[in-house]
Amino acid sequence: MAAKPSPHALSTATPEPLNLDGTAQAVIPSREQEGKSMSSNMPYTRLGKSGLRVSRLCLGTMTYGTPAWRDWVLDEQAARPFLARALEAGINFFDSADMYSNGVSEEILGRAIRDMIPDREDVVIATKCFYGTGGEKPNRRGLSRKHIIDACDRSLRRLGMEYIDLYQIHRFDPETPIDETLTALHDLIQAGKVRYIGASSMHAWQFAKYLYKADQLFRTRFVSMQNHYNLVYREEEREMMPLCVEEGIGCIPWSPLARGFLAGNRHKQGGGETTRARTDNFATDLYYRDDDFAVAERVMEVAKRLDCRPMQVALAWVLSNPAVTAPIIGASKLSHLEDALGALQITLSIEDKAALEECYRPHPVLGHE
Ligand SMILES: NC(=O)c1ccc[n+]([C@@H]2O[C@H](COP(=O)([O-])OP(=O)(O)OC[C@H]3O[C@@H](n4cnc5c(N)ncnc54)[C@H](OP(=O)(O)O)[C@@H]3O)[C@@H](O)[C@H]2O)c1
Repeated sequence: MAAKPSPHALSTATPEPLNLDGTAQAVIPSREQEGKSMSSNMPYTRLGKSGLRVSRLCLGTMTYGTPAWRDWVLDEQAARPFLARALEAGINFFDSADMYSNGVSEEILGRAIRDMIPDREDVVIATKCFYGTGGEKPNRRGLSRKHIIDACDRSLRRLGMEYIDLYQIHRFDPETPIDETLTALHDLIQAGKVRYIGASSMHAWQFAKYLYKADQLFRTRFVSMQNHYNLVYREEEREMMPLCVEEGIGCIPWSPLARGFLAGNRHKQGGGETTRARTDNFATDLYYRDDDFAVAERVMEVAKRLDCRPMQVALAWVLSNPAVTAPIIGASKLSHLEDALGALQITLSIEDKAALEECYRPHPVLGHE
């Protein structure tokens, strides 16, 4: 079935964003579409308060690499049509990490970009360091100056590019002084290897410390936070997202569909119909609680009423949060990409949002490890 936002789904109501406790969220200036591609209807927006313009959807490339890394990962031949279709649809924002398929994800992304578009400047390539590709060797992971600079050079070689647009620290490193990490990242920018820096899942106090120290030491500030946020994990609404709004940091949530859990095809007894549903153990660790299934069922009910796909409702909900610049989506079938593009057309009403949020129960912190 093609993506089909119904006329009902294209409601005109502007949702009022609420915190978990029901109070109104701090709202950054309107994230109205700031422009559209000449060749597609893709909206673009600025990444936080930086000048960098990114598509409202970012394509995650963790799904592309080698199935030797994870059973559900697609190889290069299978992956290339996704990258081609994303570019054609106006997606200019791609996320990878050194650890995805131990570097093969970056290689596939780099080759595709070099082959498929004439100008490197027309895409925003994001990747990450922290976990590395060297296993447990002492200096092959973390956020030391040594590892960050080595990891960046390796990512550049794998991507076959002269610079990375958005270089992100994948996690907080409690063993490395914050000023060492910030100075290494700042130096990569000065060296022309990196354009902007971002961070990923950590506690809000840790991120606040990075921001404060960057200002204090006159180092480059982070422009983005890649955090774990979806209808079955909303703890980021407590501290991290208000902090990001206040500081002009763009949120680019990972796993906006809860690794497929919100697509409506996961089973209560575990697993589901797809290879990823059966083999993605990290998803089982994060989700599959009774409360989570209650939310997933509500997503299906709302989707039925709006005559669209459950994942479109879940994605439209993430997109409706004004703190969110661009969710980072995963697609293992080309139809997933089409459905995600369709979700950009859906505006949920206040009633829809309230129904979707009603079954949520607070979760322990998940996804910072
Ligand atoms: N910073 C971090 O720590 C971190 C962590 C995780 C991910 N990420 C980033 O976030 C990206 C996305 O993560 P993710 O893949 O977990 O995202 P996701 O969008 O939450 O999940 C993607 C999965 O949802 C299912 N799906 C998507 N569209 C669907 C549709 N229309 N119908 C039915 N099922 C659909 C597919 O599952 P099936 O394959 O089972 O069909 C797909 O593999 C990654 O590629 C990576 O770049 C970052």
